[in-house]
Amino acid sequence: MKIAVLGGDGIGPEVTAQAVKVLRALATRGLHFEMVECLIGGVAYDRTGHPLPPATLDAVQRADAILFGAEGGFQYETLPRGLRPGDALLTLRKDLDLFANYRPIVTFRELAGASSFRPEIVEDLDLLLIRELTSDLYFGEPRGIVVENGRRVGINTMRYTEDEIARVVRVGFEAARARRGKLCSVDKANVLESMELWRIVTEEVARDYPDVALSHLYVDAAAMALARDPKQFDVIVTGNLFGDILSDEASMLTGSIGMLPSSSLNAQGKGLYEPVHGCAPDIAGKDLANPLASILSAAMMLRQGLGQPQAANLIERAVRRVLADGLRTADIFQPGCTRAGTEAMGDAVVAALAALE
Ligand code: NAD
Ligand code: IPM
Ligand code: MN
Repeated sequence: MKIAVLGGDGIGPEVTAQAVKVLRALATRGLHFEMVECLIGGVAYDRTGHPLPPATLDAVQRADAILFGAEGGFQYETLPRGLRPGDALLTLRKDLDLFANYRPIVTFRELAGASSFRPEIVEDLDLLLIRELTSDLYFGEPRGIVVENGRRVGINTMRYTEDEIARVVRVGFEAARARRGKLCSVDKANVLESMELWRIVTEEVARDYPDVALSHLYVDAAAMALARDPKQFDVIVTGNLFGDILSDEASMLTGSIGMLPSSSLNAQGKGLYEPVHGCAPDIAGKDLANPLASILSAAMMLRQGLGQPQAANLIERAVRRVLADGLRTADIFQPGCTRAGTEAMGDAVVAALAALE
């Protein structure tokens, strides 16, 4: 099994190294991976003049799955569009047609007290946010900063075709059917035509899923409901921009954005697996980052991309063991626990994995 490993910038390489360590530790259980490290993002721009060099594109196309870290950095934010680190990730998502972004929001029982929400609100939370990833305001045309009547105007276009809506909503229904049978579609149909179509198409797709209970919320109300009573949700399906914002909000229910993994799949099932967080320049290079989002992304890769659900379960059990033992990175630290850096957390997961039956 060939994995393209794209660490990227800031804490990206630090957390990805821990996930790679955990994957390598599966060798004792007969699982061997060919891991190909590739440049992406700001570091790729610095070394090659482009954030997504041809060698990286070639490697991701040959790989069975892609493990991604993070990219970005303030020093790159004034580069022309196309050369910024974030553009590399967006290009990968678009070129590989990774339209279905799975963002599980799961609160480990041991971390209920680490959340900024009351423990009874977040304890045992298990919701799945599915975010459309290749359309919407992110990619709609026209876009740009133009001059009209001597004044600058910034333009983006929220645009969805019915096919783009139907295919991601279908992913939401399928996921709900395999879980607790509830799907909430989040839109802004009261104001935006693109979202009015979202709701119409969602209702049409729903005819194929009479066994799934469908509800709709406007995104502003959904943001409130997530904070008030998140356990009412099973699966949420929403557009690219709303999903981006709601998933960072939802990360706080779990204790930290350093806990949220994700997978982004295309229709053929090829996927890119990455933590939801960014390159966190404020803590980069200090052995402070929480690597669990990346390690849990590797588990998602094993389950959804490489057909190894047992290995995925083992990694998740090892993470739970480490948390139960009281080990915590700074972002989830609570009094009475033991502080661990990025490396030590990765080592602890490897040790816990070795001890599992
Ligand atoms: P961010 O996610 O990088 O950081 C937000 C906050 O969360 C920071 O305080 C950071 O220290 C903390 N944090 C993030 N990950 C953490 C972890 N694993 N452990 C502990 N704390 C963690 O978001 P930002 O500050 O808005 O963006 C910084 C840069 O990252 C920007 O250039 C942005 O474009 C980029 N970015 C990239 C991705 C990606 O690669 N997928 C995602 C989001 C942002
Ligand atoms: C995410 C990130 C990206 C997004 C950025 C880095 C392009 O915030 O994956 O959530 O907005 O999709
Ligand atoms: Mn985001």
